[in-house]
Amino acid sequence: MRLAGRKALITGAARGIGLGCAKLMAEHGCDVVITDIEIDEANRAASQVSSHPAIELDVTSGPAWEAAIEHAGDLMNGINVLINNAGIIIPGTVENLDEAGWDRTMDVDLKSVYLGCRAALPVLARSAPASIVNIASISSMIASPNFAAYNAAKAGVHMLTKSVALHAARTYSDVRCNSIHPAFVDTDMVDQVTRSDDREVNTRKLARQIPLGRIATVEDVAWAVVYLASNESSFMTGSELKLDGGVSAM
Ligand SMILES: NC(=O)c1ccc[n+]([C@@H]2O[C@H](COP(=O)([O-])OP(=O)(O)OC[C@H]3O[C@@H](n4cnc5c(N)ncnc54)[C@H](O)[C@@H]3O)[C@@H](O)[C@H]2O)c1
Repeated sequence: MRLAGRKALITGAARGIGLGCAKLMAEHGCDVVITDIEIDEANRAASQVSSHPAIELDVTSGPAWEAAIEHAGDLMNGINVLINNAGIIIPGTVENLDEAGWDRTMDVDLKSVYLGCRAALPVLARSAPASIVNIASISSMIASPNFAAYNAAKAGVHMLTKSVALHAARTYSDVRCNSIHPAFVDTDMVDQVTRSDDREVNTRKLARQIPLGRIATVEDVAWAVVYLASNESSFMTGSELKLDGGVSAM
């Protein structure tokens, strides 16, 4: 029960890392509200892990954020954990990625975190101790020729996390903000960065790039989220936690 008394809103939690976090957090006593742009899938996920219905939230919309924070706060009688997890990847080099792909990546992966922190901070502060966890990526620190927009957006999340942490530290009492930086995680997203539709082939290929010899599971990420959401990390803010199987040590 490492998260007893915690009330979390998680974005993009209909599947993948977000759903994995919701499950592990709920197992540790956290009250959880699942949000996603895909509301039917989100409701199916919510029925597995939460006593609350899912909330439809397109993280690129400021008004949708305001409404979701209010709704989740009503359902849980406050919010003290925000997991900014929703994200997309649109592969492309600086030369072949079109402007629409650039803009969409920036909106879903970076602007979303600004909108979410802005909407949530005053609400989180009322139920402090509170914690924001931003799911960035090791791509915020290690570039790929084919991830031009994703690299830039996740680097933005990395530094935005620190700005939010410093602002929260001087404005509120006990509101923290940290980022997590996974390398490849076994979710639908890996199929978008490899050429084959065969998940097993894709994960084997990606694993060859990782010193530990495998890609991450959603649980690998969820354990880090549990730690950062809980008071076990109470002196940690503005920090980045790398979960990369050793890639960035090379
Ligand atoms: N899978 C990886 O290899 C990996 C590695 C590092 C970081 N990440 C990051 O982890 C996060 C989760 O990725 P995942 O692997 O679980 O991906 P996924 O594709 O399995 O799930 C992403 C979820 O986000 C939702 N989503 C997409 N656009 C949205 C929007 N505008 N508003 C709200 N929800 C939206 C989708 O519906 C989906 O449920 C992302 O931020 C991603 O960049 C993933």
